[in-house]
Amino acid sequence: MPAPGENLRINGDRLWDSLMDMAKIGPGVAGGNNRQTLTDADGEGRALFKQWCDDAGCTMGVDSMGNMFARREGTDPDALPVYVGSHLDTQPTGGKYDGVLGVLGGLEVIRSLNDMGIKTKHPIVVTNWTNEEGTRFAPAMLASGVFAGVHTQDWAEDRTDAQGKRFGDELDRIGWRGDEPVGARKMHAFFELHIEQGPILEAEGKDIGVVTHGQGLAWIQVTITGKDAHTGSTPMPMRKNAGLGMARILEKVDEIAWSHKPHAVGAAGHIDVYPNSRNVIPGKVVFTVDFRSPDLAVIQDMEKRLYEEGEKIAADMGLTIEFEKVGGFDPVAFDDGCVSAIRGAAERLGYSHMNIISGAGHDACWINQVAPTAMVMCPCVDGLSHNEAEEISKEWATAGADVLLHAVVETAEIVS
Ligand code: GLV
Ligand code: MN
Ligand code: MN
Repeated sequence: MPAPGENLRINGDRLWDSLMDMAKIGPGVAGGNNRQTLTDADGEGRALFKQWCDDAGCTMGVDSMGNMFARREGTDPDALPVYVGSHLDTQPTGGKYDGVLGVLGGLEVIRSLNDMGIKTKHPIVVTNWTNEEGTRFAPAMLASGVFAGVHTQDWAEDRTDAQGKRFGDELDRIGWRGDEPVGARKMHAFFELHIEQGPILEAEGKDIGVVTHGQGLAWIQVTITGKDAHTGSTPMPMRKNAGLGMARILEKVDEIAWSHKPHAVGAAGHIDVYPNSRNVIPGKVVFTVDFRSPDLAVIQDMEKRLYEEGEKIAADMGLTIEFEKVGGFDPVAFDDGCVSAIRGAAERLGYSHMNIISGAGHDACWINQVAPTAMVMCPCVDGLSHNEAEEISKEWATAGADVLLHAVVETAEIVS
């Protein structure tokens, strides 16, 4: 089977217009998006995506975790489908491209094949995975994790948001629980297009990142309990200040990550202080430490040192401390064949490219456990993501989707 010719391209204007149309749903406050998982806005985004898939002649399947699968038939009824996709949910102050580019880039692959009248032996399926972000219900990549058999569905459905609402109830509420068993689908391969979310490709002047690995992560939720008391009248020696305990631990988190430079990172993005009143010494804090590294031993070391340092700081201050691991996955090595398909596609199309390790978590990291998987990345301006100002150019999006198209048709095999 000859490789597809370099004249095979997606329609960059149409892809861009769809990105902008999707961004109108769940607008943020600063030009980006707040389309958190299982909100009404998520439901609206899903409906628009389904409409577009129907218009492209696809058949939509939805599983009981709300994962969406839009299928374009192949010519061989026995051939397993090639899957593409990512996620439509966003952070509370998210950008317009994180996840969305991978879903709509996948749809654009199908639209372009339709335009060109190209048939493939294997069906092609575009996926929208539920709750990739993990911002409302921890952990991230929740539904792709259930699909890959990493989490049980019961456990996933019992995850609660900050208001105590259950994932399963919210899925029912927005009306996107399907009837397919989760994980029943078998894949020939999975490809995810995503923005880099970091500064490397732009700094190196490359159009395409060929993602060979993904770094692993550990999310550890820490609860420190002290005693609520008056900020004015409580003498310093009598205070049990949980907020101060957290501050001391966060200094350690930073120090621990720096001690494994240059590749390890660590921070707490989720912090709740109780009772959060100006004149009450915080009696309780709950925060989540996010440690990441491409090296499993480094993640394990950072986690161990957090437990040790945290216990010591709390004991010295007369505070109690509890740790709960609320998310984690090991560093990932993507499939050689799929990675080569992406590199070959970039070569053929004349796009500059380099190998890259993903700093963020992606659904592809879990799907890699059940199917040959790889990712293609395009640059984003100043490496900024998880920020409403996240930006990419139409040219970058087009190059990424062109590479996706070529990797997919080579894997799904063109039938002339
Ligand atoms: C997902 O967006 C993550 O990397 O946390
Ligand atoms: Mn993402
Ligand atoms: Mn994200």
